[in-house]
Amino acid sequence: MTVTSPVPRQPDIEYHPDEEKYHARTARRLAENPSLPLVPLPEGFPAKVEGPNVWEGKDWTSEDQWVYKLSDAELVEIDAALAHFKGLGQPLGFIGRDTFPLPTLGATLKGLAQELYSGRGFFVLREIPVDKYSREELAIVYAGISSHVGSGRGKQDATGAVLAHIKDLTVSHASEGGLGNSAYTTDKQVFHTDVGDLIALLAIQSAAEGGVSRLSSGGRVYNELARTRPDLVKVLSEPWPLDSFGGNPGYTTRPLLYFEDGEHIVIQYSRRHFTGYKAQKRSANIPPISEAQAEALDALHFLAEKFSLEMNFQKGDIQYINSMGLLHARDAFRDDSDNIRHLIRLWLRNDELAWKTPKPLEHIWKRLYSVPPEGQRFPLEPEIRKKENGVAK
Ligand SMILES: [Fe+2]
Repeated sequence: MTVTSPVPRQPDIEYHPDEEKYHARTARRLAENPSLPLVPLPEGFPAKVEGPNVWEGKDWTSEDQWVYKLSDAELVEIDAALAHFKGLGQPLGFIGRDTFPLPTLGATLKGLAQELYSGRGFFVLREIPVDKYSREELAIVYAGISSHVGSGRGKQDATGAVLAHIKDLTVSHASEGGLGNSAYTTDKQVFHTDVGDLIALLAIQSAAEGGVSRLSSGGRVYNELARTRPDLVKVLSEPWPLDSFGGNPGYTTRPLLYFEDGEHIVIQYSRRHFTGYKAQKRSANIPPISEAQAEALDALHFLAEKFSLEMNFQKGDIQYINSMGLLHARDAFRDDSDNIRHLIRLWLRNDELAWKTPKPLEHIWKRLYSVPPEGQRFPLEPEIRKKENGVAK
């Protein structure tokens, strides 16, 4: 008799996490192998991490703890820096600490950058008078202030765009296939991390309803997993097949969880690369994820949600977060004719303060942060980002 092992199939898992399915999968896996929680942590991984970036949402009592309100004098300084940059007549890719000088606010922003890398991992700058500026002036102000937080700007698509618009584009850009990414919809975005060191989001306008932003400490999520399910830490630290959605190669492999510098837990993943999202279904011709990986994906999401801090964007807020140390998510929202949620994103890096980039991510970081000033595009209107192969990302 020939015994053939079953062909591995993609587990029953969707982009939107289903708590019932998660608990059922956990129960099934533990019934099959009750010793799973006894699996030792992978070599080099700590039983627990500590530090200011290991926190829970309930640890924060007031937004005064993370909101930095710009003073009138600082706003005047920003306007002077804008006039200075415009006077130079240089392309926007040359916006930087030297070309957008902030004699006093610069030192404050430097301190806040330290908060991102060695402190809680996030802060909000309030508030940029967004209506006062033309869209191009706003891009200069935003990139100029942000260059004092992290002078490296990451490209966000194959065309060298360093600004990305996060807005519901389902109607305006329907023909471009943007539905493969929840960032361009009003849909909930589940917990994930962006690639790169730092994310900045400037709110030009907020939604009529919803769109709450949620942050969660990767270290806190890790500690819970390490304590209760070290087997899932092991799963997360091993290579996973990421769908490149029609790219070449069709998939890449890397771990989702890293502890390489003896100090920081880094979680780097986006759930849609393992489940697909709406129009971008998971490719059928690439290896499926395993049941263990499906459980680990849900564990990450639900633990991040449990320990999360929620905050609301106000028009004119810039939210800065360390994407290596924190996961983030966004609730679904509703726009109306007067309140159309519109955020502009930058990916940043502060070379002096940066954590060590985990080895398997180095090539991504290199691609992100290697765009020269003259190659940087600042799209002033929303567009769907394109990958190297022209596919929407
Ligand atoms: Fe994101």
